[in-house]
Amino acid sequence: MTTIGFIGTGHLGSILVRKFVETGAIKAEDIYVSNRAPEKAEQLARETGVKAGDNREVARSSDVIFLCVRPLDINGVLNELGELITAEKLIVSVAGDFSLQQLQDHGQARVARAIPSITCENRLGVTLIALGENATEIDRSLLLSIFGAIGDPIVVPEDHFEVMADLTSCGPGYIAALLREFALAASWMGIPRDQAEELMKKTIIGTARLLEEEGFEELISCVATKGGITEEGVRVINAQAPKMFCHLFQATRAKHELVKGLIRDQR
Ligand SMILES: NC(=O)c1ccc[n+]([C@@H]2O[C@H](COP(=O)([O-])OP(=O)(O)OC[C@H]3O[C@@H](n4cnc5c(N)ncnc54)[C@H](OP(=O)(O)O)[C@@H]3O)[C@@H](O)[C@H]2O)c1
Repeated sequence: MTTIGFIGTGHLGSILVRKFVETGAIKAEDIYVSNRAPEKAEQLARETGVKAGDNREVARSSDVIFLCVRPLDINGVLNELGELITAEKLIVSVAGDFSLQQLQDHGQARVARAIPSITCENRLGVTLIALGENATEIDRSLLLSIFGAIGDPIVVPEDHFEVMADLTSCGPGYIAALLREFALAASWMGIPRDQAEELMKKTIIGTARLLEEEGFEELISCVATKGGITEEGVRVINAQAPKMFCHLFQATRAKHELVKGLIRDQR
C-alpha cells in the first residue's frame, strides 16, 4: 500500500484529490491532505473521505508527497518538513519554476515534477512529468498510472517543461481567451456577445472531437475549400498569429525568469 499526501488543497490540489478518488486511481483511505488555511483541507476530507492534518502530519504519513502550492511557497513548505524529507519519500511538485535540482537540494527524497492541466477535471488533457535522477522505475510507473487515470501523462525532459506547459497547462486558458476575442469581434459586427460566445463554445467542442481523428492541416483543408470564404480567414490568421504567439512565448519566458529569480533570492 502506497500512501499519498497532498500539501496545498487550492484549485489544482483539490481537483487532483477529487479526481484520483473518483476514478479509483488512489483509495481515499490512502490519501492525506493539508492546507495553510486548514478548513479547506478539512472540507475536502469531509467531501471525499481522505484524511486531513497539518503539513508535517501529512509528510510523516505519506510515501509520496505532492506539493500543490505556488512556486514561491515551495521553499517554505520544504523547510517546514525538514528532517521528514528522507530517502524513503518521493516528493512531487506541481509548481512551475522550482527545479528538480532545487527539490533535491532539500533532502534525501526522490523527486519528480508534474504539470497537470485543469482539463483533468474531465479526465482529458496532458500531464507533463519530469523525473529526478534518483527517481526509480516504480516512481515512474506510479506517476504514469495515477495521472493516466485522469488524462494522458507524458514523461519529458525538464528543460521542455516551460514551453510544453504553455501548450498543455496554460493552453486551456489561452484557447478560452482567443475564443472570447473571436466572439467579441463578432459582437462588433452586430451579433449579440452572449450568442457569439455560445456559438464559439459549441464550435470548439465540435472541433475538438474532429481533431481526435484528424490533423490540423487535414481539418483546415476540409473547411477552407479553394477560393472560398474560410481560405480568406485562414490567410489572415497565418499572417498575424505567428507574431502573436512569439510575443506570448516571450512574455511567459520573462515571467518564468522573474519567478526563478525570486525563488533563488529566497535561499
Ligand atoms: N491551476 C492550474 O491549472 C495549474 C496547472 C498546473 C500547475 N499548477 C500549479 O499548482 C500549484 C497550485 O496552483 P493552484 O491554482 O491550485 O493555486 P491556489 O488555488 O492558490 O492553491 C494553492 C494552495 O496552497 C496553499 N498553501 C500555500 N502555502 C501553503 C503552506 N505553507 N502549507 C500548506 N498549504 C499552503 C494555499 O492555502 P490558502 O488557502 O491558505 O491560501 C492554497 O490553498 C501552483 O504551483 C501552480 O503553478 C496549477
